[in-house]
Order: sequence, then structure tokens, then C-alpha cells
Amino acid sequence: MARGFVLWFTGLSGSGKSTLTSMVAAELRRRGVHVETLDGDEVRKQLSRGLGFSRQDRDENIRRIGFVAKLVGRSGACAIAAAISPYREVRNEVRHSIENFVEVYTECPISVLAERDPKGLYKKALAGEIKNFTGVDDPYEAPESPEVRLHTDRETPAESLEKILDRLEHLGLIPAWGKWRQGASSAADANALVAPHGQELVDRTLSGDAARAALDEARSLPVLDLDVGAHADVASLANGAYSPLRGFMTSKDYLRVVDEMRLESGLPWALPITLSIPEARASELRGRGRAALRAEGRIIATLQVEDVFRADPARASELELRASSEPDVESRRDAGLFCGGEIQVIDGAPPSMLASSATPRDVRDRMAQAGWSRAAAFETDAPPLGAEEYVARACLDFFDGVLVTPTMLASDRIPLDVRVRCFETLLAKYFPPRRSLLAPRVGQRRGGARRRAIHGAIVAKNYGASHYVVHQQADASPLDDPARWLDGYSPRELGVELWPIGPVVLSDVVGGTTTRRAAPDVDGAAVLRTHAAIESFRAGNAPDVQARPEVLAILSEYFVRAR
Ligand code: ADX
Repeated sequence: MARGFVLWFTGLSGSGKSTLTSMVAAELRRRGVHVETLDGDEVRKQLSRGLGFSRQDRDENIRRIGFVAKLVGRSGACAIAAAISPYREVRNEVRHSIENFVEVYTECPISVLAERDPKGLYKKALAGEIKNFTGVDDPYEAPESPEVRLHTDRETPAESLEKILDRLEHLGLIPAWGKWRQGASSAADANALVAPHGQELVDRTLSGDAARAALDEARSLPVLDLDVGAHADVASLANGAYSPLRGFMTSKDYLRVVDEMRLESGLPWALPITLSIPEARASELRGRGRAALRAEGRIIATLQVEDVFRADPARASELELRASSEPDVESRRDAGLFCGGEIQVIDGAPPSMLASSATPRDVRDRMAQAGWSRAAAFETDAPPLGAEEYVARACLDFFDGVLVTPTMLASDRIPLDVRVRCFETLLAKYFPPRRSLLAPRVGQRRGGARRRAIHGAIVAKNYGASHYVVHQQADASPLDDPARWLDGYSPRELGVELWPIGPVVLSDVVGGTTTRRAAPDVDGAAVLRTHAAIESFRAGNAPDVQARPEVLAILSEYFVRAR
């Protein structure tokens, strides 16, 4: 995943640019990133020798640094530039010439700098011995929205370093998990998290020789082509998101799940995880014992065929009991012929529409390292407007952190990667560090609200969440009361709790967003309906929604492109 980028420090002399440059460079190198640094003082002895401190000369200096940084970034490496770069215009000129440009502002009051003054320059400048000294008698134009804003007067260098690394992770420029893997989280920390469903995280992925042997074998097997939903299921089976399942359901599991919301073993489970096959392939598969599974043109797994069975349409319709009014494309998968059995996965990558993803193992490691034990999982098919932000932030008041999972819809109104970018931006800029994680997933889109919620909660539990957010988007009918959804199970049997919240409303009396239950103006407060707001925005209307400008910018850029 080598994506080059440029980390551009700007700030007054002595504000910490050089110190942080060497710290970031050392940490990135430790994580295997190739780094080149362009330090102002150094550059002025080489590339910019002879330039002075007039505006013209400073701009020239910055353009030269920018040019070299661009080349380094384009080669897939990281360039770190550390010059005062006092003028906004040329900084922005450089920004626009570089693909992944991350501006870091080392903000520090001039009084503190004059006090510290290790080079004795401020003293001289204030005495008039140096002319045109930035911040004293020469301008410094602070960036308006840098990717990272540091306060070097009140943060330790280590804290500032963390902020930079967090941002780079959120932007997807460095792998998000590298840091955490290092110290191999202590077992004590990991134990604070809820256990996976069925106690152990399943891993169906083959590697090395075993993977090569399976691929060889697959060449002689009947091949089944998977649609995107089945492909996503293979990925979730491979990485343990569907623990304790080890493959596609056989009729025994299937029937018990449909009838009683339990696996054959008795463990709670809400949605069938089945593999549909064409009628024409039935006899061939019944005879063969094994099959190869192909997605996006690649063989990704082998299947040990244990069972070929027909869905009972009467029973399957139970799944639809409380389905939304929207016709569910995926429900068609509940009619027809299924093939069940354990799988062995050669390529566990999720469908390519997911630009980034995280396995339950990754997420658990990171939760443990961040010291979470109670975590809420918030799964959503919407972009983060006011309602979603309210829900995600509310989790922070009650839990150690929130795991946000943007999921794919059957009829995706806004592509998953666009929504993921919106959340990345929101969480990085408006949420406290270390309190949120992002794990996009191509999810199950079958069943009514109740079955979907229980299924989501079980998967979230496998990712380490103790609670699963049920975001109610409209006033619930008594049938849809999440408080009663777990009635069929004994207390705590599920091992993860449902946490209903909403609907989120805009209340005049409160003067902002709150929930219907907490609003005094029950009738006046308007429910924030994300999808309706988005459709109107997409149609070209002015954004009449509660949302962050950065999120709206990403969405409107997408809508313009999509037109
Ligand atoms: S920039 O304005 O062109 O971005 P740069 O970072 O390369 O500046 O160089 C700043 C360094 O030059 C300071 O850290 C300081 O040591 C030295 N210097 C000498 N004269 C000045 C001045 N008039 N203003 C700012 N820095 C100066």
C-alpha cells in the first residue's frame, strides 16, 4: 500500500518543526516507510544557497522545497519539509501541486518562543539587530485549515508526534495497525474485551504451501462464481467476523436459524449464511465433494460440500417479518438451492469496492492497546450528517470508544468508499484521538430490523464490541421495540447488548440536535432524516442539513462527478 505523501511543517522559528521532523522520520522509518527530509536551515545551505528573507526569496525557497518534495512523494516515499513557509499563497500553490499533501502547523505564541530562544535570534530581532524576522517585524500567515494543528507550547513532543501519526493513519497514508502490532498487546489487556461468539475467533485463511496446494487442487474442481454478497461472506468467514461459523450453513444450521434464531449447536444466530447455487449445478456438486469458489475472476476458496438443500419458502419468509418497506434485493437469496460446508480460504480479501478494511483481529488488537474494554459498535449505511455524528459521539459518553462500521447497501446510494472518506475526515477532525476506530464492511442486507440488529451485534462482538448501537431513524412501532428483541434468549446469552438510541431530532428549544426522548418540544422537533436530506442535496439543492463542511465538500464533489 505504498502511497507517497508530503508532510509539510509550517510555523515560526523555534516552534518545533525540526524536532518533530526527526521524531516523525524515525517513527516512519521504523514502520518501513522511506523518508526524505527537507529542513529549512539545511536547504538554505544547498538547494537555496544565496537566497535571503525577502518575500520573493522566501517564496522561491518554498517553491524549490515543494518541487523536490513533490518528486519524492510521487516516487511512493514520504517527504518531510520543515521551513517557516510564512506565506499562505505559496503554501497553497505547493499544496495543489502535490497529491497527498499534509500540512502540519506548529502553533506556538511568540511570547513563548522569545522566552525559549535557543538560537538567540528573537533577542537579536527584538533588539533590531536582525531585520525582517518572521513573527517580529515580518509577517507569518497561519494556515486556516491545516490537516494537523499542534500546540507546541502545551503539548509534549510525544503528544504532538501521536497527533501526526493518528492523522496519517486516518488518511490511510500509513497502515493503521503498524504501531499496535509492535508491542504485541498484553494478554491481560486483550482479555478485558468481550470474548468472540463461541469463545474463539475463527481463522479460515490458508497461507504459504497450504494456500498453493489448495489453489492447485482448485484447478480440477467445479467452479462456483460468487456475487458480491457471497464474496463478502467468504471474507467474513475467513477472518472470523462470523465466528464460530467455519463455512456456509448446512440445512441443519439453516433450519434452526430460521425457526429459532439459533445454530444447530444452540448458540444464538440470526441470519442464514448460505451459498446459493444454480439449479443446473446441483447434481454435479452432490457427487463431487469439493468445489472451488471464484470471485472477481480469482479463485478465493475451496468448499467441502456437505449438503445441497432447498430453502423452504414458507420458512424463509419469516425472515422478512419486519423487513423495511424497501424491496430487499438480497432476500432473493432466501429462495432456491443452497450448498453448505466448511471453506478454506486462499484469498480472504473483501470485495474490491472496499478500499480499506480491518479484520476482527486488527480491531481487537487496537482496542486492547488503546485500553478499551467497553466498546460500542455503530454500523451505518448513511454518510455522517448531524444524526450519525450525534449517535457516534453519544457513544463516547458511555463507552471507552466507538467502532464505526460503514456498510454497503443493496442499492448503494452513495458508494462505500465515499462514505468511508467522510467518516475518516469527521473522526480525525471532530473526535478525540484514540476514541474511535473505523472498520468498513460489506454487510448482510437481509431480514427484518430485529434479525439484522442481532446479526450485526454478533459480528460486532467478534470485532470486540460489548454494545451494538441500534440507531432508530423514525419513531418505532411497538413491534420494533429493541428492548424486546432479545426475548427469545436467556439474559446475557448473546454476550453483547443492544443499545438503542434515537431518533435524532433538531430541537428549537434545545437549540441543536438531541433525541426525541430528550427534547422538550416533542411535536416541534424535526427528525433528522439523513437519506432524504442527501437526496435533496444530490438533486442540486442547497445543503439544508446538519453536517460538517468537510463532509459536505466530499459529498458534493462526488455528486458533481456522478452527474
Ligand atoms: S522561510 O521563511 O524561507 O520558510 P526557512 O525556514 O527556510 O525560512 O529559514 C528560517 C531560518 O533561517 C530560521 O530558523 C532562522 O534560523 C534563520 N533566519 C535568519 N534570518 C531570518 C529571518 N529574517 N526570518 C526568519 N528566519 C531567519
